[in-house]
Amino acid sequence: MTVSMLIDCDPGIDDALALALAAGSTLDLRGITTVGGNVGLDLTTANALALREFLDLGDVPVVPGCSGALVRGPMDAAHVHGAGGLGDAVLPQAVRGAGEGHAADFIISTLQDHPGEITLVATGPLTNIALAVRREPRIVDWVRDFVIMGGSYTRGNHNPAAEFNILTDPEAAAIAFNAGWTVTQIGLDVTLTARLTLPILNRMRDLGRLSSLILPSVQYYSPVTEESGPALHDAVAVAHVIDPTLLTLTPAEVQVETAGHYTTGMTVTDFSSPAPNTLVATHLDVDRFWQLMIDAYGRLAGRLG
Ligand code: RIB
Ligand code: CA
Repeated sequence: MTVSMLIDCDPGIDDALALALAAGSTLDLRGITTVGGNVGLDLTTANALALREFLDLGDVPVVPGCSGALVRGPMDAAHVHGAGGLGDAVLPQAVRGAGEGHAADFIISTLQDHPGEITLVATGPLTNIALAVRREPRIVDWVRDFVIMGGSYTRGNHNPAAEFNILTDPEAAAIAFNAGWTVTQIGLDVTLTARLTLPILNRMRDLGRLSSLILPSVQYYSPVTEESGPALHDAVAVAHVIDPTLLTLTPAEVQVETAGHYTTGMTVTDFSSPAPNTLVATHLDVDRFWQLMIDAYGRLAGRLG
């Protein structure tokens, strides 16, 4: 059965590789909405538009949303993803522009028109998601599933307590976790096990044009060696939509710290709560994840030439 997905993202190297996974899979991509995050909204949107054409994603709508957090000041991860957001990868500039309107309204209208059909995936800060929930609370009933890459029940990455997507807009994340749907949270605990090592990269053969995205971006993200490499955080979220058997999910109540001096942005996770609001990813079948990635990239490369 074809699964439909709407992805809200901040491309961003791993967002881009997640979109490449989607492009090489059987997913029905209903839309790409962009948010300020890894780099500014102008760049995450330009990257999404360039990726739509480079990855042969056809007429999938690309609609920009919020440039920054609901309450807090700007924050980015350009030091990780490069000034342009895709590391050293340089894609042909997009010919077609973004769709009209705001991402939050696009999310609402798309879900309203296709109730129960579409999995909403967020791989950046949750600002657009929070705005959509506030504008139309019924989207929590219209989604098929709501999946995020973000947070951690162990340690953060931007600081010991907080993961970047959540820390960039903790108030938005708090709204998203308490909107009334069950969040599928794919955090650093599992995504940090999804590392692109040299042996895995060597299994990605005959990438053709696709190599001009993958190689210069992943090498910029972090060195690819025999034993380690960049963690493709956001690709794990899309892989879950394609094959939900890859992850072990455990119910928990997740609340987002928004007032901690050292802990703001922490996803405080209670696996013993009688009122779980989240299915937390606690294990990833890493070998099957990489096989899915290698197969999808191989199919996509065959299409792109
Ligand atoms: O912490 C990892 C997350 O932050 C990923 O989504 C990456 O793209 C950055 O946005
Ligand atoms: Ca991201």
